[in-house]
Amino acid sequence: MRLNKFIAECGISSRRKAEELILQGRITINNKTITELSYNVNPEVDKVFFDGEPIKVENHVYYLLNKPKGVVTTTDDEKKRLAVTDLIKTNLKIFPIGRLDYNTTGVLLITNDGDFASKLIHPRNNIIREYEVRLDKDLEFKDEQLLLNGVYINNKKGKFLTINYKKKKEHKSLIVTCTEGRNHFVKEMFGTLKYNVVQLHRKSFAGITDDIPVGSYRKLTKDEIQKLS
Ligand code: URA
Repeated sequence: MRLNKFIAECGISSRRKAEELILQGRITINNKTITELSYNVNPEVDKVFFDGEPIKVENHVYYLLNKPKGVVTTTDDEKKRLAVTDLIKTNLKIFPIGRLDYNTTGVLLITNDGDFASKLIHPRNNIIREYEVRLDKDLEFKDEQLLLNGVYINNKKGKFLTINYKKKKEHKSLIVTCTEGRNHFVKEMFGTLKYNVVQLHRKSFAGITDDIPVGSYRKLTKDEIQKLS
C-alpha cells in the first residue's frame, strides 16, 4: 500500500497532507526515516512511526454531531477551548470535516477517515450545505437577487443556490443553500451587503440533516456512509 494511503488509513490525515508529513521526514519505517512519496508499506510486517509514535490502520468511524454553541472546530486551539472532538467518546484520532464557527450550531460530520473527508470537502464535488440564518434586519429583494447572482468575497465570487424565508412577512429569518465551504462564508456573503448574521445553524450537510438535538451526536448509518463514500 502507498505510504500516503497507509497514513490516511491510520486516521492521521488526508492523503494529500500525508505527503507533506512524509516530505517533512516525520515518518519512519523499520527505524529508517522515509521521505520517498512512492514508498510502499506492507501493513502486515512494517513498523511505521509518526513523530516517534507507532501508527496502524484503524477502523474507520463516522459521526454526525449537532454542534452546540461555544465549542471550537479546530483541534489545536491556542486558547485551549473545548473542541468538537472532545464531545465524542472515542480513543481514535478523529477530526471534523470542514468547520463551523464558535457560535454556529448544527450538522458537523466527524471521522478518522481522511479520504472520506477529502471527498466531502473538495469544491469539485459541490456538496450542498443548508443554513438557517437570522439577520439583524429584513433582507431586501434587490439584495436577495445579488446574493443569488453572486457577490465577491476576497476577490472570489460566491453565491447562494436558494434563499427561502421562514415567515411570509418577516424577511430576517431565512434558509439558504450553497456549495461553498470557505470559512465564514455565510456571514461574509451577508456582510458584503451590510447585514449582520446574528444566529447561524447548519440544517444539513451533504444530505445529512440535524435529526438529533443540539449538543448530541450519533454514528452515521451504513447506508449514509455508503451514499457519501
Ligand atoms: N458560514 C459562516 O459564516 N459560519 C459558519 O460557521 C459556517 C458557514
